Amino acid sequence: MFGPAAPIPMTARKSPPLKGVARVPGDKSVSHRSLILGALAVGETRISGLLEGRDVLNTAEAMAAFGADVVQHGDGEWSVHGVGTGGFAEPEDVINCGNAGTGVRLIMGAMATSPVVATFTGDASLRSRPMARITGPLALFGAQSFGRSGGRLPLTVVGADNPLSVRYVSPHASAQIKSAVLFAGLNAPGETILVEETKTRDHSERMMKSFGARIETRETPEGFAVHLQGQPELKPRNITVPRDPSSAAFPVCAALIIEGSDIIIPGIGLNPTRAGLFITLREMGADLTCENEREESGEPVADLHVRSSGLTGIEVPPDRVASMIDEYPILSVVASFASGKTIMRGIRELRVKESDRIDAMARGLEANGVRVTEGEDYLIVHGHDGRVPGGGTAKTRLDHRIAMSFLCLGCAADKPVSIDDGGAIATSFPIFERLMTDLGAQITRTNA
Ligand code: S3P
Repeated sequence: MFGPAAPIPMTARKSPPLKGVARVPGDKSVSHRSLILGALAVGETRISGLLEGRDVLNTAEAMAAFGADVVQHGDGEWSVHGVGTGGFAEPEDVINCGNAGTGVRLIMGAMATSPVVATFTGDASLRSRPMARITGPLALFGAQSFGRSGGRLPLTVVGADNPLSVRYVSPHASAQIKSAVLFAGLNAPGETILVEETKTRDHSERMMKSFGARIETRETPEGFAVHLQGQPELKPRNITVPRDPSSAAFPVCAALIIEGSDIIIPGIGLNPTRAGLFITLREMGADLTCENEREESGEPVADLHVRSSGLTGIEVPPDRVASMIDEYPILSVVASFASGKTIMRGIRELRVKESDRIDAMARGLEANGVRVTEGEDYLIVHGHDGRVPGGGTAKTRLDHRIAMSFLCLGCAADKPVSIDDGGAIATSFPIFERLMTDLGAQITRTNA
């Protein structure tokens, strides 16, 4: 059979209080980076807690195609025997990254300074996303690329034979652009410098450092300048992947809006470049505490304890956008239950995620009786003070976070909320349905 997989329509109904302990899977960003850095190190890296979502499994397969020995030993337990920086072999076939923008962009960076040619593709969502933001800076290293119009996938990258070192000022607040440049810089001689105006997630920098690369961030008048010395010998290491704060966001927010809920979510990564949602929720009045704060594999981690709370809308400071970029869909659901308006500005990047998330949320919320106002780079949700009508169907547009957000909405709205397709949830949070129903959420597959 040709074409996309059959859709999985789902429905969420008003649920009893959520109770219990929710163990969400490993962090997607850290999981992609563990596999790629493991493949670029000399020797064996051991990874535990790897997210086994479709996005990350595609990256594992890609690393094997570039010559690394990637083995699954058990649930979340993996090893990668790397080939060293510059040691990538040429893949025999097209690299299919599925739905994963992070996967394809970081891998393009990692191969761009090796003398190999690779062709990349993905699903309909990924094939529609901009890649020129990556191939542009990679061209400065000497890599060539040939894609469809607008630089979209499928796209072939011809890695540079004699890579140059690069200084690049990123025009977008994007950790994917930053990381693609840094991964390329690993096999370029001399110093690669990446400057970003806003600090985005710094997992690549932390992890490269722990593999032995010389990398540091300096604050300059132009922004945060990451300096990386090229061609280090990366030393393999053991990595424990923290649990994903962007996945934890769904049970956290569902518990806040379902009256009487009280849940614990252990071992969540709380890197300050990722934790903006939790600050925002507290400012809205959320009863959300961090317990047992500790460090694992160079990342701060804590257990989250959340109880349902009456919430008030706020204006989210635009300088917080990068630290909660993936959390705006679920925040706009929470905002529908708050009293007053929640104003989200400076969120233009949401238009080029797995879907146009401003449009996807606005249309889905309207279909469920919530009033919104939107502009090119903002969304305002007019809160319903604890009572959201529901009763509508949201289109998920191959976007996992849109799907999970509307299912959370349905667990607290007056009438059931449906989604046309929950298939994309498996890209980042394959156990979402079971985890949520174990807590008490009423989520079902509509055709089952
Ligand atoms: C990611 C960076 C973010 C984020 C994505 C994961 C990463 O994208 O939306 O889900 O792991 O680097 P941008 O860097 O494009 O903002």
